[in-house]
Amino acid sequence: MATRVGILTGGGDCPGLNAVIRAVTRRALDLGWEVAAVREGWRGLVEGLVEPLERRDVSGILPRGGTILGTSRTNPYKVDGGIERVLETFQREGLTALVAIGGEDTLGVAARLYAEHDFPVVGVPKTIDNDLNGTDYTFGFDTAVFIATEAIDRLHTTAESHNRVMVVEVMGRHTGWIAVMSGIAGGADVILIPEQPISIDEACADIQRRHERGKDFSIVVVSEGYELEGAHDADDVDEFGHVRLSERGVGAALAQEIERRTGYETRVTVLGHVQRGGTPTARDRVLATRYGLKAADLVEERKFGRMAALHGDRIVDVPLKDATAELKTVPPDWFAVAKAFFG
Ligand code: F6P
Repeated sequence: MATRVGILTGGGDCPGLNAVIRAVTRRALDLGWEVAAVREGWRGLVEGLVEPLERRDVSGILPRGGTILGTSRTNPYKVDGGIERVLETFQREGLTALVAIGGEDTLGVAARLYAEHDFPVVGVPKTIDNDLNGTDYTFGFDTAVFIATEAIDRLHTTAESHNRVMVVEVMGRHTGWIAVMSGIAGGADVILIPEQPISIDEACADIQRRHERGKDFSIVVVSEGYELEGAHDADDVDEFGHVRLSERGVGAALAQEIERRTGYETRVTVLGHVQRGGTPTARDRVLATRYGLKAADLVEERKFGRMAALHGDRIVDVPLKDATAELKTVPPDWFAVAKAFFG
């Protein structure tokens, strides 16, 4: 049977998606396969949004942010008859394999489809949050850290001019990977993350100690998922059960609290979706390209239910179910590197 491989991108977009799409497509076409674009994540298979993907469609997309396929947070397990429709579309379109590029939600669906329906799917680990298990790094993370670091550098100069405390709220959902890495790279004076939370008392003590040493400004990085008294979740959840963490306003609440307790003038910057936009770093382009080629190789070897992964410097493959079973949090030794520079 001829191979016709579909590609979909699901969940929040991130820089490097197009580099994966290009790599899978180029390798697939070189092998004589047909390639199909599945539009807007799992919604594309539920609603039959599938069309051919040719070499010219992936030409020039390597450095482009976003995804040429579109994305969504559609969960076919939450749509009436969703899984039947996914399987029907797959068959009707003559697809023989699927490359799903996504994070824990998109790949969680892939793992379940494989387990329950022997669905021929392989995964590629995407997310700026870097919270996916089974791989050292997801693509998109390096770019987000680069953008956050640049912002911290810029905030340093204005903080210093005004003798202010600058609070920077970064994304990352329930893990503090972006906060810790950009905080280390940007020389943050305090970093607050969900999985190893320091208290506001400790944060204020660090800032005060710094000021007593004659440093009249401070940079505080906080993850959007840091649990802060007074910062509440909105009621709506998406189809995967996630609340919108940006709605909590953790950065603003923290800035207010720091100013109230220390008396130092404090401002907040919420970086938001800027962290997900624009062109990927060279490192993410290379990682995404290697992941894409590996995904095509997994299809060729019929190693379904697996995900391309980075272990050290090697691209390997791991079971999708292991990668999606639980979140990868920041380990204590990483946080210790950041903490060595607090205060
Ligand atoms: O998972 C990526 C991410 O950017 C998180 O860091 C953030 O909490 C969430 O997506 C934001 O989602 P949305 O783009 O739907 O607002």
